[in-house]
Amino acid sequence: MSGIAGWKAVDEAWQAVDEFIADRLLPDDPVLDDCLARCSAAGLPDIAVSAAQGRFLQLLVALTGARRVLEIGTLGGYSTIHLARGLAGDGQVVTLEAQDTFAAVARANFQAAGLGKRIALHVGEALTTLPDLTGPFDLTFIDADKPNNCAYVDHALRLSRPGALIVVDNVVREGTILEPADDDESAIGTRALYDHVFQHDRLEATALQTVGGKGWDGMMFLRVKP
Ligand code: SAH
Ligand code: DHB
Ligand code: MG
Repeated sequence: MSGIAGWKAVDEAWQAVDEFIADRLLPDDPVLDDCLARCSAAGLPDIAVSAAQGRFLQLLVALTGARRVLEIGTLGGYSTIHLARGLAGDGQVVTLEAQDTFAAVARANFQAAGLGKRIALHVGEALTTLPDLTGPFDLTFIDADKPNNCAYVDHALRLSRPGALIVVDNVVREGTILEPADDDESAIGTRALYDHVFQHDRLEATALQTVGGKGWDGMMFLRVKP
């Protein structure tokens, strides 16, 4: 691993490379900076996707030509803004958040980003708000409480058009999914997701590990078979 020689820790190198990627590939973006500043000022946890991951989500929306996007887990809306920016035509993002204080921050961020009309925010436990949604969605990003991941995939599948894409965040969790501790509900729920999607004959799946400013994690990608 000579490429990281001289770095105090591997995760410092991951962070530095993420900064390099953002510096070289992602233009200065005051809207996104303000979004994160508002999240931080309001005391929200620092668990939004990275800038590079956000841009990747935006590209996925654009590449799939998605017009209807569903997100489970809004936080302050950092990922939501990326998803909305990738929308084709008069598309819309529906995003679900349990905490009303987080949702208030997200709403302010959507207004400031000029995306108020493109994003519909539903406040409440996702398992309560999901049954009332009307599909079909072209793309779903699942990024909320991990113990409910299997249930969220089932809802996303029900709400998806044939050929839709479902992305699930945080599916590696620093490798803890291999042998989840008895009290690590997130790792247990995420590990269960792998078996759950594998036995679904309507889903074609893979997962990619990621490293960067957010540590060692990964995203799962599911295609709803036509
Ligand atoms: N997608 C965001 C980060 C989401 S963090 C981004 O990358 O910018 C996870 C979010 O899921 C938190 O805001 C948390 O409040 C929310 N959440 C947790 N449990 C939930 C539930 N049962 N229903 C809806 N949202 C939930
Ligand atoms: C956590 C949740 C996330 O969605 C994430 O991307 C990182 C961390 C968490 O609950 O710790
Ligand atoms: Mg996440």
